Amino acid sequence: MPIKNLPDDLVGKTLMQISDMHVGKRFDHRYIIKSFNKAKEFNPDFVVYTGDYVSTHKGKVLYDVLDEVFGHMVKGKIATLGILGNHDYGINWAEADVADQIASKLSDNGVDVLRNEATAISGLHFIGFDDYWGLNFNPQKAMQHFDPTKATIVLCHNPDVCDEDVWGQYNSWILSGHTHGGQVKPPFLPPFILPVKNRKYSAGQFSLSNDRTLYINRALGHLWQVRLNVRPEITLFELQKG
Ligand SMILES: [Fe+2]
Repeated sequence: MPIKNLPDDLVGKTLMQISDMHVGKRFDHRYIIKSFNKAKEFNPDFVVYTGDYVSTHKGKVLYDVLDEVFGHMVKGKIATLGILGNHDYGINWAEADVADQIASKLSDNGVDVLRNEATAISGLHFIGFDDYWGLNFNPQKAMQHFDPTKATIVLCHNPDVCDEDVWGQYNSWILSGHTHGGQVKPPFLPPFILPVKNRKYSAGQFSLSNDRTLYINRALGHLWQVRLNVRPEITLFELQKG
């Protein structure tokens, strides 16, 4: 991950992205815990969580299961950050109390949650957008913190935001999730089901206007436990000078 203005001390450090764990009843949550345990072997310097921690079951978040999973979270040696996704806003993405509850559980577990906020750690700046479909989407507020002279990464759950007129002079990385890579993809064809307007935003790395780079993680969890040709993913980046 080449980043403009990266401080020398951070060259070679690792950043792990974990996204869309979807803790609920649609698959065995112990799979997430097992994956966290494998991920911990990489001993990442930074860990970022890009939203959709839960899927509701009969309209409810299974907070007891979430607590168990959060107890095993992968933490960065230097920092651990997170943003919320649409599923973290409960039914119809419209339950503010659900989002607040999930955010506070993340903080209790050592994750610095950015809801249209920014933070700087060892000279690396993170800007976190709250979710596009949720109740608190305000990228303009978040982007006030952008300083083009600093190394910066934006965390943004839904990649469709990349096509919105909110980026100003932003010219660095954007880490997203949300699509699960479509979960099912026939060979040589795009996936059938993608929850984005821009159908090219399925998975992987994209070069965007004004020298922005988007990376879409294929998700660790699933909506339904059906995947074909789209493996679940935890991403490990190595920071380089850009
Ligand atoms: Fe999502």
